[in-house]
Amino acid sequence: MKTVLILNGPNLNMLGVREPHIYGHETLQDTEDMCHDHAKTLGFSIDFRQSNYEGELVTWIQEALQKVRGIIINAAAYTHTSIAIHDALKLHNCPIIEVHFSHPKDREKFRHISYIEPLAITTIAGKGAKGYLEALTFLENSIINNAQ
Ligand code: DQA
Repeated sequence: MKTVLILNGPNLNMLGVREPHIYGHETLQDTEDMCHDHAKTLGFSIDFRQSNYEGELVTWIQEALQKVRGIIINAAAYTHTSIAIHDALKLHNCPIIEVHFSHPKDREKFRHISYIEPLAITTIAGKGAKGYLEALTFLENSIINNAQ
């Protein structure tokens, strides 16, 4: 079965209580459950993870080499700072999709830069947990079209 790695960065474990006016009321567990259900309908299995540590995210990206058909990543604040995550993602030839619950480009200036964006086939932002489902569908189309 095709496996998709879904990575979540720092503070996303606090969804539901964290600034709900920005991030909504869904928890990360809700998001994971929705992704599992949607992935099943697409014939994917998912490996859904969250870490508050940059190095752990880098290690997981390295460990996924040759094992996953695609990566969906919400690097959270590391989106705007992490060359280490950028470099690790560059190891992969599989499609990468950047997701965000909010719309960082409509927020503070320091959120306007993304070190993930240049490596991603698309960025889905501002759609809450539904953006992850859209990313899974987008990934499926990209994998089929490229016959990867
Ligand atoms: C976020 C946006 C980032 O700017 C922020 O640091 C996050 C969450 C989002 O999903 O909207 O932690 O990635």
